[in-house]
Amino acid sequence: MSNTDIAHEIEQLREELNLHNYRYYVLNSPVISDYEYDQMMDRLIKLESEHPEFFDPDSPTQRVGSDINVEFKQVKHKYPMLSLGNTYNEGEITDFYKRIAKALNEPFEIVCELKYDGASISLTYENGRLVRGVTRGDGTRGDDVTANIKTIKSIPLRIKGDYPAEFEIRGEVYIPRDKFEEMNRERIEIGEEPFSNPRNTAAGSLKLQNSRQVAQRPLDCFLYYVLGEDLPSHKHVENLEKARSWGFKIPKEYKVCNSLDEIFGFIHHWDTARHDLPYDIDGIVLKVNDLNQQKRLGFTAKNPRWAISYKFKAEQGYTKLLSVSFQVGRTGAVTPVANLEPVQLAGTIVKRASLHNADFIQSLDLHLGDMVYVEKGGEIIPKIVEVDVEARKPDSEPVRFITHCPECGTELVRPEGEAAHYCPNSATCPPQVKGRIEHFISRKAMNIDGLGAETIDLLYNVNLIKDISDLYSLHPMQLTPLERLGDKSARNIIRSIEESKNVPFPRVLFALGIRYVGETVAKKLAMAFKSIDRLMSASKEELMEVDEIGERIAESVIDYFADEKNREIIEKLKKAGLKFELSEEEMQTASDALAGKSIVISGTFAKHSRDEIKKLIEMHGGKNVSSISSKTDYLVAGDKIGPAKLAKAEKLGIPIISEDDLLNLIEQ
Ligand code: IVH
Repeated sequence: MSNTDIAHEIEQLREELNLHNYRYYVLNSPVISDYEYDQMMDRLIKLESEHPEFFDPDSPTQRVGSDINVEFKQVKHKYPMLSLGNTYNEGEITDFYKRIAKALNEPFEIVCELKYDGASISLTYENGRLVRGVTRGDGTRGDDVTANIKTIKSIPLRIKGDYPAEFEIRGEVYIPRDKFEEMNRERIEIGEEPFSNPRNTAAGSLKLQNSRQVAQRPLDCFLYYVLGEDLPSHKHVENLEKARSWGFKIPKEYKVCNSLDEIFGFIHHWDTARHDLPYDIDGIVLKVNDLNQQKRLGFTAKNPRWAISYKFKAEQGYTKLLSVSFQVGRTGAVTPVANLEPVQLAGTIVKRASLHNADFIQSLDLHLGDMVYVEKGGEIIPKIVEVDVEARKPDSEPVRFITHCPECGTELVRPEGEAAHYCPNSATCPPQVKGRIEHFISRKAMNIDGLGAETIDLLYNVNLIKDISDLYSLHPMQLTPLERLGDKSARNIIRSIEESKNVPFPRVLFALGIRYVGETVAKKLAMAFKSIDRLMSASKEELMEVDEIGERIAESVIDYFADEKNREIIEKLKKAGLKFELSEEEMQTASDALAGKSIVISGTFAKHSRDEIKKLIEMHGGKNVSSISSKTDYLVAGDKIGPAKLAKAEKLGIPIISEDDLLNLIEQ
């Protein structure tokens, strides 16, 4: 293919992928399968890596973020990001409306919108391109989080249509509830603490210094406010509709109201209907629709006079605490759960509430039989917010945290500095053993099909599997007599177990379920130590030398391998034929020696072809770029190097290195 053909194909793929992104993330109506999408993306990634001269920061391939840690630059907002006056009170809505009517003394419209519960963000577009994303900060200055914002797929990097040359658009970055729960399930699965609620997680994610991690978070963004000097209309909603046509995700749930009655209708409707939304809102925002009228009304020191927010009261339930149960998770962490007399709350019947840990129970001074107030905040499970001490019976017993594991009877421990109690019997405590097996077979680990939690329960109860290594001595004949398992599914399970022997070492390491060793950490450890034997004999200090491995993870790895039982299991898995070292091919990519480095090569080389050099750079985490700029980290100079390149590198003070220097960098 000629270079023009390639440029053309790249451009076409980018266009199409942008369109499918838009259909999927903004319109929620994809027209191609995930598989087809991935195929196109893979093709684009390949072409772009073979042709770095066509690099474009706005390419859909750039949404995966970067592993470079950045400190945020503080940016002054062109228009301050004011907050809204809050009210919980309908009377104040009436006052607001009357105030406006009096000040304007002419007809006006009020736009009612939902108040999204996330983190606010201001996006600047210049000539149709996203140039900046800034957090609210203190309202005057915020953090430049553009790299993180670019990972949010519903935010267009380029827009289409008749947009002004320069404008800002503001909105709320949020996490849909189901995605939040899914993410927490995955976290629990790998022994990480679940996040407490979608709002804090969205806000926290924007502040992560590593955009590749941000790309893993299911962030989304609604836009609700367009600002600029030459906007298409002087009506707020018309500007929103224009912005929708440019490609932004503008919520449909707003209403232009002409009376207080209509406003209250909207408020009352959403006070209950909000529970059916797939994301959290915490109130309603009222805005004067006409921008000229907005201008006339102006601002107080803190808030606009043309807008106000009405916050919903958190719905509370009042009910009786019947008992407290204690659940043991895969990592042995014990969670206390309140069993309540069923009560209607926010559209569902609540029977249980999380009590978090011993400190939480103590801070509530909770007694059995207490009457309690429960609330459903952004949290998944409702929580007890208050005890009605007046209603307490004089002879009631305080809730005491258990001292022994309810599943296996082992005495619980509470590590210093931690809030949770743990059952230390990881080897034979049933939920811990079963949980580890479930994690082991999960999709991102060994990906063993056909075995679900129920089947594992079954196999565990009839003594067929007591730890993960037993999976590899199962025989179809042992499975078929079991309830629900036919001949065919038994054979499928065995085949899938067989196939799992090809799973690469990093995933096997992740599958072992070592505390704090998630997918990424497992990869880093596997790359650094190359085999389980070397990892097992690593000291804490050696472990901590690996990028991003801190004391907590290092100690957890040491503890895991110090356990005789774990070493026996690994021995058995080795015998079964699982991969416990990197393959030749994996070894080659086993470095991030050039991570984050932009490298230009020029000339011809003695030991490798130009393509080989480029490949080497990529395999070790570097990026090939075609032309030299102040952002270039190295110029690799070969024979017959272009004199212009050399001069430019010298002028900009870019280090000029030889082929051998590059190989040395990689070696190190
Ligand atoms: S308009 C000057 N509209 O609520 C008006 N804000 O205190 C600017 N919010 O920081 C805000 N949904 O993060 C507006 N539909 C909506 C909103 C909304 C949520 C947040 C926003 C702002 C806070 C107001």
